Amino acid sequence: MVGYKFMGKAHTHAYRDLPFYFDTDAVPVLQAIAGRDETGVRGAADKWGFASYETDWRRLIERDDIDLIDIVTPNNTHAEIAIAAAKAGKHVLCEKPLAMSLEEARRMQHAVESAGVVHMLCHNYRFAPAVQFAKQLIDSGRLGRIYHMRAQYLQDWIMDPDFPLVWRLRKEVTGSGALGDIAAHILDLARFLVGEFHNVVSTMETFIRNRPLGEMTSGLQADVDVNGATGDVDVDDAAAFLAHFENGALGVFEATRFAAGNRNGNRFEINGEKGSIRWNLEDMNWLEVYLADDEAGLQGFRRINCTEEVHPYAANYWPAGHIIGYEHTFINLFKELMDGIAKGTNPQPNFSDGVKNQAVLEAVELSAATRQWVSVVQ
Ligand SMILES: NC(=O)c1ccc[n+]([C@@H]2O[C@H](COP(=O)([O-])OP(=O)(O)OC[C@H]3O[C@@H](n4cnc5c(N)ncnc54)[C@H](O)[C@@H]3O)[C@@H](O)[C@H]2O)c1
Repeated sequence: MVGYKFMGKAHTHAYRDLPFYFDTDAVPVLQAIAGRDETGVRGAADKWGFASYETDWRRLIERDDIDLIDIVTPNNTHAEIAIAAAKAGKHVLCEKPLAMSLEEARRMQHAVESAGVVHMLCHNYRFAPAVQFAKQLIDSGRLGRIYHMRAQYLQDWIMDPDFPLVWRLRKEVTGSGALGDIAAHILDLARFLVGEFHNVVSTMETFIRNRPLGEMTSGLQADVDVNGATGDVDVDDAAAFLAHFENGALGVFEATRFAAGNRNGNRFEINGEKGSIRWNLEDMNWLEVYLADDEAGLQGFRRINCTEEVHPYAANYWPAGHIIGYEHTFINLFKELMDGIAKGTNPQPNFSDGVKNQAVLEAVELSAATRQWVSVVQ
C-alpha cells in the first residue's frame, strides 16, 4: 500500500476484515506499506498490522514478496505508481479519480492491459448492497426504460474560509476540485446504473479564492501552517452539469463542498417508465422503490432495508435488519478484487472505467470553460 491516511485506513481495514466475512481463493496479506515520513509510516505499519514498511514506494515495486500495489495517495501520483507497478507485473488497485487527465488515464489503462495484470479502481459506492440491488432492478427491467437520473454529492468540509489550501484544493496535485473528488463518484454510479454518457453542459464555481496554507491531517481534517502564508485556490468548489446518456436518458448532477449541513450527501434518484428508485449514502442500507404497477391506493415509495439474504453481499454479514456501514463498501469491492486476482479476470470498475469516467470529467471541464455542450469521447 502506498499512502497511509484516510483511504489508507479504509483500505487496510477492508483487507483485514475481508477473510472474516468472505471465503476468497486469494487472501490479502498486509506485507508492506510505503510513505515518505519514516515515523509516520512506521506508526501506520505497527498500528494496522503491516509486516514491514518502506519510505519510497519504488522499493515496494522492486520487492518479490508483493503481488498487489494499492495506491491511496493524492491524484497526481496515481499514474507514475500504477504504470511502474504494472511494468513490474504487480496487480494494481487505484483510488479515484484514476488520473489527472484523459491522456494520463489512457496511458495507465495501456500499461495494465499490456502487462496483463488485474486492475481495479476504487469506486466503492457501487458496492453498497442497496446500490447493487438497484442495479439488479434496472437490469431486470423492473423500472423499464430509464428517463432520468438526478444525483448530488454534497459536502461542507471546506466552507470555513480559514480551512487551509490542502492538496485537494491545488490543481497541480488534485486535477480538479469537487468535480474530480466527488462528482467522479456520482458519474461512476450513473455509468454503472444508467449507461454511458453522450454529452454534457456544465458550470463550475470557486467561492473562496484565497486560503491559508496547510496540510491534511486525518480524514477530511487539516492543520493551518503557523507562518500565516496564503495561496490561491485554482480548482472548483462546486460543479453542476446536465447530461444526455447514450440510451436517451437525461441526467442532472451537482457536486459541491459548500452545502452547509451536508457532511457526505451522496444521493441519487432514477425514474423509469415503470417506477423509480432513490438512494442516499447517509442512510445507505435503504433503497426507496416506487413501482407503477402497484394497485391503486397502495402506490407510493416503499423503503427496503437491503440486508436480506437476497440482497447482494448482505448474506455474508449479519441477519436481516442488522445494518452495515461505509467500510463494508470497501470490503465488498475487495472481495471482487481478490476473486479477480485468483481467477485472472478484471472485475469492474477497472482502469477501463477510469478512462470513461475521466472522459466525462474532461468534457465537464471543457463545457464549463467554453459554455457549450461537449460530446463525451468514448
Ligand atoms: N473512494 C473514496 O471514497 C475516496 C475517499 C477519499 C479519498 N479518495 C482518494 O484516495 C486518494 C488518497 O486520498 P486520502 O483522502 O487518503 O488523502 P490523505 O491526504 O488522507 O492521504 C494521502 C496519503 O498519501 C501520502 N502521499 C502524498 N504524496 C505522496 C507521495 N508523493 N509519495 C508517497 N506518499 C504520498 C500522504 O503522506 C498520505 O499518507 C485520493 O486519490 C483521493 O481522491 C477516495
